[in-house]
Parts: sequence; structure tokens; C-alpha cells
Amino acid sequence: MPNTFYVTTPIYYVNDVPHIGHAYTTIAADVLARFHRLRGYDVFFLTGLDEHGQKVQQAAAKAGCDPQTHCDRLMPKFKNLWTQLNISQDGFIRTTDAHHQTVVQRCLQTLFDKGLIYLAEYTGWYCTFDERFWTEKDVEQGLCPDCRRPVEQVSERNYFFRMSQFQDRLKNHIQTHPGFIQPDSRRNEVLGFLQKPLEDLSISRPKSRLSWGIELPFDRDCVAYVWVDALVNYLSALEYLSTHKNAAGFWPASVHLVGKDILTTHAVYWSTMLMGMERPLPQSIFAHGWWTVDGEKMSKSRGNVIDPYAIVEAFGTDAFRYFLLREVPFGQDGDFSLTAFHRRYQAELANDLGNLVSRTLAMLGNFSKHMIPRPDPQTEIELDHQLQQAASTLCEIIAAHLHRFEFHRALEAILGLVQLANQYIDKTAPWVLAKDPAKTPRLQTVLFYLAETLRFLTYALSPFLPHTAEIMKTRLGLTVDFLASTLPNYPAWGEYAYTNPVTKGEALFPKKDMPSTNASQPSPSPTPSSSLEKNEPASVSSSQSSQPPMTTDDLPLIGIEEFQKVQLKVAKILTVERVPKSAKLLKLQVDIGTEQRQIVAGIGKKYAPEELVGRTIVVVANLKPAKLMGIESQGMVLAAGDKDVLGLLALSEDIPIGTKVK
Ligand code: MSP
Repeated sequence: MPNTFYVTTPIYYVNDVPHIGHAYTTIAADVLARFHRLRGYDVFFLTGLDEHGQKVQQAAAKAGCDPQTHCDRLMPKFKNLWTQLNISQDGFIRTTDAHHQTVVQRCLQTLFDKGLIYLAEYTGWYCTFDERFWTEKDVEQGLCPDCRRPVEQVSERNYFFRMSQFQDRLKNHIQTHPGFIQPDSRRNEVLGFLQKPLEDLSISRPKSRLSWGIELPFDRDCVAYVWVDALVNYLSALEYLSTHKNAAGFWPASVHLVGKDILTTHAVYWSTMLMGMERPLPQSIFAHGWWTVDGEKMSKSRGNVIDPYAIVEAFGTDAFRYFLLREVPFGQDGDFSLTAFHRRYQAELANDLGNLVSRTLAMLGNFSKHMIPRPDPQTEIELDHQLQQAASTLCEIIAAHLHRFEFHRALEAILGLVQLANQYIDKTAPWVLAKDPAKTPRLQTVLFYLAETLRFLTYALSPFLPHTAEIMKTRLGLTVDFLASTLPNYPAWGEYAYTNPVTKGEALFPKKDMPSTNASQPSPSPTPSSSLEKNEPASVSSSQSSQPPMTTDDLPLIGIEEFQKVQLKVAKILTVERVPKSAKLLKLQVDIGTEQRQIVAGIGKKYAPEELVGRTIVVVANLKPAKLMGIESQGMVLAAGDKDVLGLLALSEDIPIGTKVK
């Protein structure tokens, strides 16, 4: 099939509820699936559950039920999480599905018929946790070299797959296909592993020891080794879980995403099994790193296992998707901490992205009656073209990064455009243009460039933050289907016919307090400190503008989170009047970037009204409105002084009005 993309996640053991590690791979796979659909590929995205084997049997016994009941109980925990995380899988496989079991038996029979499976008495060191045998030379001080748990000596008659026969072919394949195992460091690891003689693989377990598995077609007293059963899922799913008329054509898979701990099973066991069955190998296997939590290994015994449901409840699905892929390069280990999460949420999602969307839509509402105007080419300047260039090439840049599984770089590129667009607003100052009717053509050009930028951003964001992209799409009045293959036909810059009005709506990422509990149990729903994003007009005001600023000497220390709640902005004083019957209060009209505000300030003893007009100052833009001598004040000016005002805060550079001050 031309242009197919088949992406898989590992199938997860149902011995416990899903955690951040499961969510990580699944989100990454979802981004790849959505991006390839956008680019016009026929996509099959597979995830699912590994339901057989000792771990599951033991977990069921612990839960006091039979293994199938246990699997049926846990299955919804995974499925519902994928719904919550907006995962767009095309197939969800369970290894207890009847069809899968048939395919596993067929594969085993094929290998058996080819003489690639034999029966032998075997004595080896068995690790129950990893469900595998180790040889004498692998075991160190009686411990499993993988999980460091004690191993026991087990003698069994088992069936073996002649894996050793394929050692040279596999080595050669890895060497001649540089993209087969990624990243490079992992590729080298596998090549290193293949330096030692490859042993044959035990692929059966006697039912007397483990009954929860798929019966071998050639020996009803044995079940298949859980990894053989599990790996075949990548093939079996294509037979019954895709509605595509030529689903078999999805093989070979484009990429198997796996964690670094299960690379050998994929790169060596699976590849050699495929060679034995004379099937092509997947195009690539990418092994990602592991998450620690606040610098520590994540484990049940430490009580620090991150529950994805809790994080989503606290910050929302898209913030979770964003953080996991933005924080750490995909192939590397990374650390999860609520502090880092909160920092990125506030800075990149609430301030940068949320702010860009809300101020652009607010200006389209205020200055263009909610309609996206046509630009006036006569008024275009270099700055506009820079923005256009950055926006219209974004998808290609993302494609290049995703081709190398560099999710963090793709998100960095998106954020770069967001920041550029925010600077564009600051530099073009549409609120100033709006005051002069002669500048309407330029204003229209600026608003058009911003709307087009949001249109391209919406597209680029859709694989990563699908919910946010849907909201942006609706607010911009766009009619596109991100799940369909629209990118090849996506209108180029300037070619989209805007006909629908835009709507501003609520903040996309309302500011949040830092959840007070630890990372593994975030508070269910932190109280937003303010539902306002930067520049949102709404109800920002002041109750303290008549009081000179206090010194900090007598105030308690505050954290950066507290300080970040204060929204400071560069503003320009437009008009000033004295408040009747007050010696010190002045009524200022100030331009804060997106709107005009009235602020009542206690600076009338220091300044005469006429000396203030035109000055650039700094204001607190998110104080609640208050009345001072019956006059509404919607902010506070910053000034030096204690009892008496000594001087207004000024900027040493020429900074655009509306710029935030941090
Ligand atoms: N059932 C097998 C996979 C069979 S695939 C044919 C399995 N399941 S698992 O549930 O134990 O692990 C699934 C995935 O979770 C693995 O890719 C593993 O790397 C990943 N993670 C487990 N803990 C993790 C972190 N702390 N961080 C990131 N991923 C982690 O193995």
C-alpha cells in the first residue's frame, strides 16, 4: 500500500493500573498517528493489553479472582485513560482475544513446521518477575541481571526457538539499516549484546507451572511463553482489528515504540521470529527513556507512582500531553516533578499560547467586529513577512523533527512561533492603529496576519494538543477535520476564505496554583488563582491605587508562584484628570496593549496632570476593580516611595506598550 503508517505501543500488562510510563508511549504514538493522518497517510495505530503470563496470573490470584475476570476488570482502566487522554487508536488488542490466540498458534506452527522449534530438557536460572531464563554467566550473585531480583534454578522440558541461527543475519540487518533501532545509543547496545553468542529462546512453559497462556498447537501440555504471545500482537491485530480493506498491507510496521527495558525482546526476539517466519522486519523500533519522579525511581513501594488520571484532573489532558513530550527528549530518561510541570504550564501554555489566542481573538472582536479582515498589501512590511514565513513553514519543520522522533523539538518550534506572534502584537500595537481611522488598512493587515498565524498554529498543534486545537478551530470559525487527511489540501497562506465570525471564549489554559500535594497524588482540582489570562480585558482593576507602594521590609517572603500571580505590564498614559476634592488622587486613562483602562492613582501630590500625559509606565493589570472616591479604578500604577510617592517606575528602553514585565 502506498503511504501507509503503522505505529504501535507495547501492549501493557494488566497486573496493575496504568501509570505515567504507559501514558508516555501511548501519547507519543498518538501524536505520530495524528500527524501522519494529517499528512495524508493511511494510518493504523495499535495499542492494547498483554493479558497472559505469570505476572497477570499472580495479580489475579492476589485479587482473589480468575485471570480472565481480573483482566476484564482492569481493561477499562486503560481504555478509559486513553479516552481521557484523547488517544486516537485504530485498534485495541487484548491477547485473550480468540483471533489473536489463533494467530499465535499459527505462527508457532509455522516455526515448528520449518524445524525452527525443538524440545529439550533445560536447566537454567529462572527469574519469575521477568519470566525468563538466564544462563550461568548472566546471573550475578544469584540475582537477575535485569531486575536484580533473586533467580531460582529450574529444570524443565521446554520448546526452544532456534534464535541462534539468526544472529549474523540480525547483526547484518542492524548494520545495514541505520534507522532500524533508534536512537543510536540503543542501536549500539543491541549490537553489543549481539557480540556474545546468541542462545536459543525457550518459548514454552509447562502448564503444570503456568496455566494462563495460549496452548502450543503441537503440545497441549504447554503454553506459549508470554513474550512470544505478546509480540505476535503486532501481526495478529492486522487480521481482525482494522476496517481497512487491505490491512495486511500495513506490515511491516513503520515503528514500534517501546521503553528501553523491552528493547531486547523487540530487537532480538521479535526480529528473529519474523525472520523465521520469513516476514519483513519493522522499519524501526524506537526505545524511549524512563521517567523518574523527583529524582527517584518510580515504584509502588516508594509510593511515588504518577497517576495520569490525577494529573489530568489537575491540569487538563493537553497540558499533560504537552509536558511529557516537551520536557525530555524522547530517547532520554527524564524526571517528572510537579514544580517543573507547573512552571511550564504557567509560562508556555497559560502565558505564551493562551495569551496569544486570547489577545488575538479579543482584538478581532474589538477592532474588526469579530470578522477576519482582508489584508491591504500596500501596508505590508517586512515584519509581516517574517511572521508569514515562520507560520507557513511550521508543519514542514515539525515533520522533520517527528521523522527523527524529536517531539520536544517539534513543540519547541511551535512555541517559537507563538512567541514570535506575541512579539508581533507588541511591535505592531494594533490598539494604537485602532485609534486612528487613517490606519485602518494597516490594522486590517496586522489582524489578518495574526489570524492566519493562528490558523497554521491550530494545524500544527492538533496532533499534540488535539482538544486545544479543536477549541481554537471553533473560535476561529475554521471548518477542517484534523482526523482526516487534510494537510496536502490545506489552503496556503492567504488562501483560506474566512467567512465565519470569531469568538473569544474562556482562557485556554487558566492560571493554576501549584498543587500542594506530592507528585504522585496531585490535588484533584487546584483552585485557579485567576481565570484571567494576560491581556484579558474582563474585570481587572485596583483597590489600592491611592496608596503608595509599601516597602517589602515588613512583608513575609513569598514564593515565585505568588509573585507570578501579579500581572505587570508596560502601559502608556493617555489622559489625566484630578479627582475632585482630593489632593492626591489622579484619574488616568492608560493604554495597556489590548485595551484602555481607567486607573485612579495616589500620585497627585508629586505630579501635575499635564506632565504625565504620554509617559510610559508599569501597571498591575490584574487587580480586582475597586472604587476610590466613587470612581472605578481598574489597575494600579507602580511608583517608588513609602508614605510619599517619589517617582513613577519608568523603563530605560523604548518598550512596546502591552509588553509584560517579569
Ligand atoms: N507487556 C510487556 C510489553 C509487551 S509488548 C509486545 C510490558 N508491559 S509493561 O506494562 O510492563 O510495560 C509497558 C511499558 O511501560 C514499557 O515500554 C516500559 O518501558 C514502560 N514503562 C514502565 N515504567 C516506565 C517509566 N517509569 N517511564 C517510562 N516508561 C516506563 O513490558
